Amino acid sequence: MTGLADSVGPTMDREAFCRQSRVVVVAGKGGVGKTTVASALARMAADAGLKVLVVALDASGGLPALFGRTEGMSYEEETVYEAPGGGSVQARMITPDDALLEYLIDHGLKRVAKRLVATGVLDVVATAIPGIREILVLGKVKQIERARIADVIVLDAPATGHAVRFLTSASGLLDAARGGPLRSQATDVVEMLHDPDRCQVILVTLPEETPVNELIETAYRFEDDVGVLLGPVVVNGCYEAWDGWSGGGAGGAGIDVGALAETAGEELGARELKALTAVAAFRSGRASLQSEQLARLSSELPLPQLKLPYLSAPEIGPREIGVLASALGEEIDATDPVAGRGQREARARELGSQEAGTREAGTREAGTREAG
Ligand SMILES: Nc1ncnc2c1ncn2[C@@H]1O[C@H](COP(=O)(O)OP(=O)(O)OP(=O)(O)O)[C@@H](O)[C@H]1O
Ligand SMILES: [Mg+2]
Repeated sequence: MTGLADSVGPTMDREAFCRQSRVVVVAGKGGVGKTTVASALARMAADAGLKVLVVALDASGGLPALFGRTEGMSYEEETVYEAPGGGSVQARMITPDDALLEYLIDHGLKRVAKRLVATGVLDVVATAIPGIREILVLGKVKQIERARIADVIVLDAPATGHAVRFLTSASGLLDAARGGPLRSQATDVVEMLHDPDRCQVILVTLPEETPVNELIETAYRFEDDVGVLLGPVVVNGCYEAWDGWSGGGAGGAGIDVGALAETAGEELGARELKALTAVAAFRSGRASLQSEQLARLSSELPLPQLKLPYLSAPEIGPREIGVLASALGEEIDATDPVAGRGQREARARELGSQEAGTREAGTREAGTREAG
């Protein structure tokens, strides 16, 4: 009986968690583990029975290798993981050039499309219309989201500054384009970003001072400038507590490795003792730094935290992604990953309608100017 309860209960929670928004943008400072976390999240959702699509914006992130693939990704989606319960992960790359090519083909320009894109027309257009590259990509994401091809789309976003610019490009274009397909595309994208049922951002950080500072600062930019709902924060690379080693102060002071070994019935040589004392000092220093940063993050940013362990594997591959996916699932079972979501949803909607109001007023003004 417990087996059934155990297997059904958490899976339902995880599934519900993953179904909250159809698009999940995974963002954060460079190198904090966005691609790794996006992959673990996708895998966890697939294990909970969902059809997941992971979208990368370029080929540099090494996402396929995290699913055991040797070949790179293309514009076409490809199944990279199949869960025993029927869920799956598909992966694809969406570049502005490919999205433009598809747009032109869909709009009856098949004959010239390839040649036009190959000439680098997008570079020329992008200089004249900033934000066009982003809108091509986000427009494509929005199209996939609308088509309900997947239960959840996980977007591996660029590093923070770029991610904010990436997501605000649509509203920027709305201010610039008065009409036409570009404007309607941008309107649709902004609508998607402001709708908490359709889109949320999950921020990733490490439990260290600089990434935590940057996360706190950018969280407000995502909320205020983009008007998108923030989901829980993922704190990646956390060192797990070691039983019996918690007595050490900062810098490892106070950990008597010799005494610990004696209690465990082990005899240590001088070299072993020295090496283990150094390890203990490192781990304990790291642990106190980590808890300081986690406490600061909690007090400065009212978002639930999901902690993922630091894995000391030489390389992160499918096995490690499996470990991180399970850890993420356990965090979702154990914490309340939606705490405060209602409030944040209301704020996202409010910011969205405020912005739409301002924009409408602006458009009306422009219309009056034009008429006059
Ligand atoms: N939990 C973890 N334990 C150990 N190593 C990790 C963990 N998460 C990520 N890494 C490693 O840290 C490095 C950076 O991770 P990743 O590529 O996912 O970061 P990123 O934020 O996507 O980087 P970029 O900004 O360059 O896209 C990689 O070498 C990855 O294998
Ligand atoms: Mg990456």
